[in-house]
Amino acid sequence: MEGADRAREVRERQRGDWDAVAGGWQRHREKMSGPASAITERMVDALRPGPGDRVLDLACGVGDPAFTIAERVGPGGYVLGLDLSSEMVRAARVWAEEHGVGNAEFRDIPSELELGVEPESFDAATCRLGLMFVPDPVAALRELRKALVPGGRVAVATWGLPERNPNFSLPMQIISRHADLPTASDTPGLFALPTPEDLGATLEAAGFSGVEAVTFETPVVKAKNAESYWYGLTALAGPLVSTLAPLPEERRQKIRKDIVEAISERFPEGPVEMNGEVVVASGEKARP
Ligand SMILES: C[S@@+](CC[C@H](N)C(=O)[O-])C[C@H]1O[C@@H](n2cnc3c(N)ncnc32)[C@H](O)[C@@H]1O
Repeated sequence: MEGADRAREVRERQRGDWDAVAGGWQRHREKMSGPASAITERMVDALRPGPGDRVLDLACGVGDPAFTIAERVGPGGYVLGLDLSSEMVRAARVWAEEHGVGNAEFRDIPSELELGVEPESFDAATCRLGLMFVPDPVAALRELRKALVPGGRVAVATWGLPERNPNFSLPMQIISRHADLPTASDTPGLFALPTPEDLGATLEAAGFSGVEAVTFETPVVKAKNAESYWYGLTALAGPLVSTLAPLPEERRQKIRKDIVEAISERFPEGPVEMNGEVVVASGEKARP
């Protein structure tokens, strides 16, 4: 398949994957924002956004870390969240309205290469747990770089290695016994940029300088028991949900049974608690 067709196909799949779970993300916002706040903290530390700053958040989902950053930049600042999924964007707008957030806006975009913003109009850019899903991460970061003023900073977070993220890799292993999961190493997906070397090199290739990249471990799952873990997975994990959706009911039930059994074996007394590994990288658009 030609590059442009492949990219369109990847975006279509992503849009479908995340539209399908936007309702779950909206309902479980509180449950997710706790564990994910450690990732946001690292990104904010790397960016140091200040009052009055303008910040662009790509793949904004339901608005985290955009809302945290909106607090940092204050009423004189501005955050623009952009996402492929109009359902995610809708959920972010609802929250902003319900909570009176006046300095953050959310828009859906046709592509990460069409941001619809003026060049050099933002002081900082973020992308939390989204860059590994785009067809060409370097090209996406180049667009973010264009949007930054000279001296502007970027911070990006991705999931680390599969073996350090059992929350996803364990169910994926089980599902792959029953259904086809995208496996090619060049397929965008959860583990497409899993090391500081990968993510750091991606930022450098996009033209950022002073790049720093680290990994860290953070709690990612807390569920009452194996059944609630399965429920969370099927309400929130976009890429897995879209793999399960077209399967015959009988096969879905088999997968459910296998995953619940595997998790129960691992956490016989409940609760189900798992840590995950995250990579955070940051860099700067050098002044000329
Ligand atoms: C795991 S969610 C992360 C959402 C949010 N950044 C967070 O950390 O909570 C991944 C997001 O990436 C978005 N996404 C995937 N591919 C994209 C693309 N090519 N351009 C823009 N957003 C994309 C999805 O729609 C989804 O909202």
